[in-house]
Amino acid sequence: MSSDRVYIFDTTLRDGEQVPGCQLNTVEKIQVAKALELLGVDIIEAGFPISSPGDFNSVVEISKAVTWPTVCALSRAVEKDIDMAAEALKYAKRGRIHTGIGTSDSHIRYKFNSTREEVLERAVRAVKYAKKYVEDVEFYAEDAGRTDNEYLARVVEAVIKAGATVVNIPDTTGYCLPEEFGAKIKYLMEHVDGIHKAIISTHCHNDLGMATANTMAGLLNGARQCEVTINGIGERAGNTALEEIAMILKAHHGIPLETNINTKRIYPTSRLVSSLMNMPVQPNKAIVGKNAFAHSSGIHQDGVLKNAQTYEIIDPKDVGIDANSIVLTARSGRAALKYRLEVNGVKMDEEKLDEVYERFLRLADSKKEIHDDDILMLAGADRAAARHIKVDWLQATSGIGIKPVASIGLDIAGEKFEAAATGNGPVDAAINALRQIIRKQLTINEFTIQGVTKGSDDCCKVHMQVEHEGHVYYGFGASTDIVTASIEAYVDCINKTV
Ligand code: KIV
Ligand code: ZN
Repeated sequence: MSSDRVYIFDTTLRDGEQVPGCQLNTVEKIQVAKALELLGVDIIEAGFPISSPGDFNSVVEISKAVTWPTVCALSRAVEKDIDMAAEALKYAKRGRIHTGIGTSDSHIRYKFNSTREEVLERAVRAVKYAKKYVEDVEFYAEDAGRTDNEYLARVVEAVIKAGATVVNIPDTTGYCLPEEFGAKIKYLMEHVDGIHKAIISTHCHNDLGMATANTMAGLLNGARQCEVTINGIGERAGNTALEEIAMILKAHHGIPLETNINTKRIYPTSRLVSSLMNMPVQPNKAIVGKNAFAHSSGIHQDGVLKNAQTYEIIDPKDVGIDANSIVLTARSGRAALKYRLEVNGVKMDEEKLDEVYERFLRLADSKKEIHDDDILMLAGADRAAARHIKVDWLQATSGIGIKPVASIGLDIAGEKFEAAATGNGPVDAAINALRQIIRKQLTINEFTIQGVTKGSDDCCKVHMQVEHEGHVYYGFGASTDIVTASIEAYVDCINKTV
């Protein structure tokens, strides 16, 4: 093992997928796992098998689908969790069990009503138990960021003695300052006997916007694995973004650390994850945001035109952004569509390709240029097709000096319904019409409309969050028509409440 090699552990499919509204089915998870393999990640955390049959199944199927990355399954320091994780990993070419327990005083006292000594014993027992199944066992000390360093060092030493191959030091609450987190890793490197028998890992959350800085501080002080997600998605404010760490290490030639990441796959992977999870990437997001390479001030534009290095520290091509990337039109054939889908990490059988091609032709009729983001949206459009409630037709009229009005036709499990209503705009009118048919009380908490590419003929994506009987549901819709996309998102929410 080279000491300057950093192992990239991707937890998009575990910590990332825990985010409300980001859930994927097994087929979609396999698509993401294959894209991560192409990207060059070393370890894929595929799920938490005891948490649900869906998670268990995803770990099984991802284990079968990927060839060389290690597949990892999460568990608590509980025997039945570890049994399930081992069972789910049985097809993995390289399998890892990730087990652990909270080590901060607040976790020990309030979560476990226990003592430091008891938690230490449970940690050791869990690692030994997992070792019965697999050689590669990673231990996580949950809330290590707020754990007393001396006690943490004792735990780390004990789990390494018990056979842990990797020890994860999560800043679970995103509380640490970079200096503090770096010092924590340094302390462990200097005070734990046998530390070099294991790899130390970082797992930083972004609650105070310091996840990437903390991860870098950890790596610069001796950690050699970092746990990251695509686009930084994850619990609450998210996890460290994979693309940020990969590009920091690539751009800073003075840092003697390297990864196996094929950086040219970063942008397509980011788009794929954003599209499958219906999770928009903020425009100013480092590396993968729409504006990450857009220079708007005159001074900057002038400089970049003279020499890109004046204001660009990264060549957009290095992260897979190609300004001249192929744009498809109504004259493009199936082969071109198939090629663009594959470039974006989406493989499909001929039958599904035919369906997507049909949708593509319909979209190309109303929109001259079809970009990769449109294609990804089309590829996922059938996710809503098998739903209980479908919109058969919709008509909305709005404008200056008239009262907005809409009428709608719904298909509810094969039965047809129609209604019309007015509102303060076309979306409000359409929702009022729909409410006359479906009399459910849904409160819209969040409603965002975002263009996919550019131009007035662009497709738009609508994300909606609604509340119904104390539960929160997420819906998604996409169309060249914003009223249609909004109603699709609303109906997507209603379908989830059924
Ligand atoms: O944030 C955290 O501590 C975690 C652990 C389960 C690794 O996600
Ligand atoms: Zn986490």
